[in-house]
Amino acid sequence: MRAERSATAAPADSAERTVLTKGPPDLLGVRAELGECARCPLHRTRKNLVFGEGSAKARLVFVGEAPGEEEDSQGRPFVGRAGQLLTKIIAAMGLERRDVYICNILKCRPPGNRNPGEDEIAACEPFLLKQLDAIDPEIICALGTFAAKTLLRTESPISAIRGRFHDYHGRRLMPTYHPAYLLRNPGAKKMVWEDVQKIMKVLRG
Ligand code: URA
Repeated sequence: MRAERSATAAPADSAERTVLTKGPPDLLGVRAELGECARCPLHRTRKNLVFGEGSAKARLVFVGEAPGEEEDSQGRPFVGRAGQLLTKIIAAMGLERRDVYICNILKCRPPGNRNPGEDEIAACEPFLLKQLDAIDPEIICALGTFAAKTLLRTESPISAIRGRFHDYHGRRLMPTYHPAYLLRNPGAKKMVWEDVQKIMKVLRG
């Protein structure tokens, strides 16, 4: 019976919908595929996998580095001090967290917040790409030097690449400073404001 079902019939679950339709998987399908991920060693030390949250139809996606302690505890991205500042930046853009999508390159916390390893990135980035395919945003904002350099495959410092759009798998990507950096260097807030205004200009069309 299953084989006779048409592609427009209501699927039994999202994983099945992913199979029945030829387009990109929806976010639930990506989450289902990720499962209780054990593709890299970080699964042994995480409390919670932090998939990402926000609108499945977001026009803007923020991508950070990896969950920190608070994110690992709550299973939600950017909920610690840096996250509260990100929430304020989003509000200053005239948006709410639920209007955008927020996630990280890594879905599990590296112990002690050490830098993500290459094997961890290799295991996790394909799922970020699938999330982006599912959401289909107009703009990605890479938060911080690690996210920007990893996604753009560049060794250039964030100071050299921020403030202008780059290509990431056919999508516009704006690198800017990480909110945690802004907590230590409030003087850089002005530059982040300039960067997000460029994003807002595109979103306003
Ligand atoms: N820093 C990040 O890069 N991501 C988070 O989710 C929290 C802090």
